[in-house]
Amino acid sequence: MTDVVAIFAQVEAAVSAALAQVLPAELAGTDPVVRRSDRADFQANGALAVAKKAGVPAHAVATDVAQELWSSGFKTLCSGPGFLNITVPDGVVWSAVAARLTDARLGVAARRAGERVVIDYSAPNVAKEMHVGHLRSSVIGDALVRVLSHLGADVVRQNHIGDWGTQFGMLIQYLDEHPDASWKGQGAETMSALDVLYKAARVEFEANPAFADRSRSRVVALQSGDEATVAVWRDLVAESERAFEAIYARLGILLDDGDFDGESRYNDALPGIVEELVAKGVATESDGAVVTFTEGVLNPDGDPVPLIVRKKDGGFGYGATDLATIRLRVEEYKADRILYVVDARQALHFKMVFDTARQAGWLPESVHAQHVPFGTVLGKDGRPFKTRSGKTVRLADLLDDAENAVRAVLEAREHDFTPDELSVVVHVAGTAAIKYADLSNTRTKDYVFDVDQMVATTGNTGVYLQYAHARVASILRKAGDAVGHLDATLPAHAAEKDLALTLDAFDATLRDVAETLEPHRLCGYLYDVATAFTRFYEACPVLKADSPAERANRLALCDLTRRTLATGLDLLGIAAPERL
Ligand code: ARG
Repeated sequence: MTDVVAIFAQVEAAVSAALAQVLPAELAGTDPVVRRSDRADFQANGALAVAKKAGVPAHAVATDVAQELWSSGFKTLCSGPGFLNITVPDGVVWSAVAARLTDARLGVAARRAGERVVIDYSAPNVAKEMHVGHLRSSVIGDALVRVLSHLGADVVRQNHIGDWGTQFGMLIQYLDEHPDASWKGQGAETMSALDVLYKAARVEFEANPAFADRSRSRVVALQSGDEATVAVWRDLVAESERAFEAIYARLGILLDDGDFDGESRYNDALPGIVEELVAKGVATESDGAVVTFTEGVLNPDGDPVPLIVRKKDGGFGYGATDLATIRLRVEEYKADRILYVVDARQALHFKMVFDTARQAGWLPESVHAQHVPFGTVLGKDGRPFKTRSGKTVRLADLLDDAENAVRAVLEAREHDFTPDELSVVVHVAGTAAIKYADLSNTRTKDYVFDVDQMVATTGNTGVYLQYAHARVASILRKAGDAVGHLDATLPAHAAEKDLALTLDAFDATLRDVAETLEPHRLCGYLYDVATAFTRFYEACPVLKADSPAERANRLALCDLTRRTLATGLDLLGIAAPERL
């Protein structure tokens, strides 16, 4: 637990206390509405809002509150109809910096302790290449895992890979008939090889009815546990999982083999799911299929849209599998919250799944299930990102592209890295470029994949933040002083104060990220920290400070900046090297 009280929280508490002094008891406890401000350090609008509600003159309330705040040490001026502009004394700022300096958590409270969150993310498909959609799910899901864990939540990662379905009958049949088709043990190329075979199988399936029939028999064989068929399926799954893990390792995604939660895991539960839904009157038969409906979910013609739990042919739909995931996550994992980090186009699906689960009593009111949607990755032409020949873009190729672009940037400037160091840096910065570009865009919006912009060393990019971090690290190295002693009686320069108040917002930012599940808020915050640091460093010499006390205070700010950037980047799944 952190013992640091954020300056922001101190101001909020002081305004609340002052409001309580001034207002009648029944109005005490209203939100003081405190924000950073460019007119003073903070602005509080609570007096205005509450006065309006109470029908008393806002200006009078604000004046009285200001008076109270003065007496608790905050210089406060009223402006407009009842805004309060609050200035924090320098001593309060330095004391907060000192407190944070000795706090490993940098003032971040474990406000999610005791909450169990299941996060379903990444979910690539066996025998198919991972594409940019899986990149988004993996990168966003991982950032949420990291942030929620850091806030004390007990997070269960679930990688719901697509490892089941009739397509495997077709692929296995095809492999059987083409014994010389090679795909196994090809490392990174395994998935490409399988992807090619999968597509060939599909072509054959469409063109050759006899093959299609044999494929269908294979599906039956697979479903009934025929040993030879199941053995090939297991191979396909194992090889694919190895390939996924290689990508995760390269990208620095936390998912590992303990997190696989393939669709096949739910097979045995599906008939029971459907039976129970029918027995409870939640599902009905429609056209030979078994479906559920959600109130208000209509197609453009105004007809209710069905969630298919069992198809006409007796096979189970994704609806059934996703319902089964909810039951497991509620009953076995005791989730308080279940997040599905899946493409925005699945919004309706999840709405119906959650509604059906509630109707069936599998998702109690106390458990919060949420679809965490994300937008599409676009090419520079504004259309969903594809290769020039119209194929899906391999994740591995994207990473190669980003690394090559970083290498070009580094080679264009002077550096003294050995070739080995250079390849590490290129990897670290290339990965940062890709992940940060994804995370820094508003989650639900589409964004354009633009490698050159991603690796830019200025602007809101991962590489810029890594540079900022490395620069602060270098200042601290050069100083060589032990950071720790602070003089709280020194006046604070405006740029020092601004940096300190920006650092102060780390806890509030992470709280917001956890509430909104929007990592771009953390990106924007880290960018603010980096730019506030730049302004500070331009205005306030550190190594050439006027006095040892001033130097110590400034080094403390450097230290906090470095640690805040490193921790924040780590929560985004991005490395913060000492040198770049
Ligand atoms: N495997 C699916 C795909 O690649 C995504 C599955 C999403 N997760 C879930 N629980 N439905 O599109």
